[in-house]
Amino acid sequence: MLLVRNRMARLFEGSTGHNNHIMIFMLLLLVSISSVTAHSLYGSTPAIMHILFLPILAVAYLCGAVGGVIAGLLLGCSTALIPSNFFYDPGSATNVLVRTLCFTFLGFSAGTLSSFYRFKRDTLHFKEDAAKVLLKNVFLSFSNTVDARDGSTGKHDRRVAANAYYAGRHLGLQESELGKLYWAGLLHDIGKFGIHDSILNGERGLTKEEWDVMRKHPEIGSNILSFLPSGKSEIRKGILHHHEQWLGGGYPSGLSGEEIHVFGRIIAVVDVCDAITSPRPYKREIFIEEALNYIRQNSGVLFDPKVVDAFVGAYGDGHIATFSDRETKVFVPPMVDDSLMDILML
Ligand SMILES: [Fe+2]
Repeated sequence: MLLVRNRMARLFEGSTGHNNHIMIFMLLLLVSISSVTAHSLYGSTPAIMHILFLPILAVAYLCGAVGGVIAGLLLGCSTALIPSNFFYDPGSATNVLVRTLCFTFLGFSAGTLSSFYRFKRDTLHFKEDAAKVLLKNVFLSFSNTVDARDGSTGKHDRRVAANAYYAGRHLGLQESELGKLYWAGLLHDIGKFGIHDSILNGERGLTKEEWDVMRKHPEIGSNILSFLPSGKSEIRKGILHHHEQWLGGGYPSGLSGEEIHVFGRIIAVVDVCDAITSPRPYKREIFIEEALNYIRQNSGVLFDPKVVDAFVGAYGDGHIATFSDRETKVFVPPMVDDSLMDILML
């Protein structure tokens, strides 16, 4: 309910405030055009005085009610200086008084509305920021918990997230998609919550039955995130498809080619690369060049060739982090946090 209300408020107010500035500018333009038109058609002095609404509204918008009142008083009194003509006497005491009261009321009303608008906008932004921080901490807590259970690959999920982001950027994904890809990468193994420790951390080989259990983690992970809005299914699909293979034969569904969501195809490459290059008690250290050779050899077999090219390109640009970077790099690319509000929206 809160999300729907925030959504409606954003629609009304505009997420950046630009829409409001344009609307106010258009209103002021309308006032000035109608005043000049009336003056040119009828020669009416009161009409041209509508031009004075412009500075009153501008000051009220910028400075609030106090500024609006002061601007209204000053400009209302200043109309006494306008010379009289045959049809109208703008300088008479009664006219000046009435006009000053009207201008002051206009300045007060516009300033109060402006202050109210700013208060509502700031409150909304504060709530948005709080919601983003909360969601980010929930996601990071999930990731930390998975990492804690699988401690030998410290920060694996964060590297997968960041590497997926940069591979996706090299592939040409939009910034809004890259944000969601980052969070999908961070949470790709969240389904391991549902796998017993004896299977997850077993140093001996897994039996067929244990592998069958292990292969359920993409589905478990997707189900854990079922609280995400249905319209934002990319994150869940990325998690669900990250063990599918380009020619089929992966799990859980044996999808192939572009049936596999692009997030899943990207995460598959970066996940394998990080797993290969991370030390394990039962295998020697493997350097990234060797891992890249493996990935290239399986381009078009296990992995989407375009994604492989993008990943190799991102590596060439120096954006791909490995296990050895775990203490020196902050694995959060710029702009990622901006995607959180979009993820929350229905
Ligand atoms: Fe996985």
